[in-house]
Amino acid sequence: MFDVQAARKQFPALARTQDGRPVAYFDGPGGTQVPAAVIEAMTRVLEEGVSNLGGDFASSRFAHEITESARRAIADMFGAASPEEIVFGQNMTSLTFSVSRALARTWRPGDRIVVTSLDHDANVTPWRLAAADRGVAVDMARFDSDTYRLEVESVERVLTDRTRLVAVTHASNALGTIPDVAGIVEVAHAAGALVYVDAVHYAPHGPIDVRAIGADFLVASAYKFHGPHTGALYGRAELLEELEAYKVRPAPDTGAEKWETGTQSFESLAGVAAAVDYLASLGEGEDRRARILDAHAAIERHVNALSRRFLDGLGDHITLHGIPGVEGRTPTFAITCAGRTPAEVAAHLASRGLYVWEGHYYAIEPMAQLGLLDQGGAVRIGFVHTTTGEEVDRLLGALDELA
Ligand SMILES: Cc1ncc(COP(=O)(O)O)c(C=O)c1O
Repeated sequence: MFDVQAARKQFPALARTQDGRPVAYFDGPGGTQVPAAVIEAMTRVLEEGVSNLGGDFASSRFAHEITESARRAIADMFGAASPEEIVFGQNMTSLTFSVSRALARTWRPGDRIVVTSLDHDANVTPWRLAAADRGVAVDMARFDSDTYRLEVESVERVLTDRTRLVAVTHASNALGTIPDVAGIVEVAHAAGALVYVDAVHYAPHGPIDVRAIGADFLVASAYKFHGPHTGALYGRAELLEELEAYKVRPAPDTGAEKWETGTQSFESLAGVAAAVDYLASLGEGEDRRARILDAHAAIERHVNALSRRFLDGLGDHITLHGIPGVEGRTPTFAITCAGRTPAEVAAHLASRGLYVWEGHYYAIEPMAQLGLLDQGGAVRIGFVHTTTGEEVDRLLGALDELA
């Protein structure tokens, strides 16, 4: 049994109250709260004193240790072969602009790339802009509007022998759908294309295994998995080595540092490692990777129970835009309410101390395909491992008030 109360005790932000009652954060897909261990790790860096990389003195060596420790932590979380395959950056969007520009240098007019209609715009527009710069065509693989699933065949159908890249999400931040990423990588590789996986939404919800899925690149953001606001990118070693990065002189031109522009936020990197260690602390196993995998199995059981409770309790006035079960999805639900705009629903819930997002949350393509983009989008409700059954019941009760 996953001990949700023991986990909650570690999050100072869960003590927030409104009108004398605890608030409930259902906005995890937009950003999660952090445990005390993350706050302490970040504070410690600033208190102890940290300098820039490359000096032969203790506070500079401290920056190096923090960076390397964060690389090892993310390598364990992503299942990467080496910490040198992990690159940090400001956030997923910035990292994606950087990699898309570097990859686009290798494209030729007449080449093609594939994006999907399930993706957050941060995994669509950087690629579209890079393609436009290089005279490269963009094909769109669409999810099924009836099943909300992105089938491997939908990607396969748009692949050609000129396709150089497929950009695909590990899970939709709007609908929660988890596509068969390994299957998509397989067909993309068979066509000679590289695959760039956006795991930002997926990361807090399931185990990432870059080697099992065969991703060439995979990117996530620590603030979505109970860490600070920093992005982390996996790139296959040969690709990071052979691609030319946009960088200044005389920054390193090998290893992960080749891809890190300017000075990183060392306090955030300490927080990233602490967030991974926190996740690992929720599981058991011989090493950190094994504990992370075990933690995810426990979290999944807990969260799936919450999702069933939520789905079973929705009134007839609520429409779910997504897979109506717990398989093949994260616990992230896009809903609309008869007779109310998403903004009205979110404001009502906020008045009850229940925090949700409404609108499109940058999931422009999914919202457009479902015809919701011009209708105010949808209300997005997200559960994480600290969500309780009591919180879900409060949410259902507040939604019932809108019937
Ligand atoms: C699926 C997905 N991809 C990309 C992003 C953008 O991430 P970042 O804020 O790190 O640039 C988000 C943020 O909401 C997201 O949910």
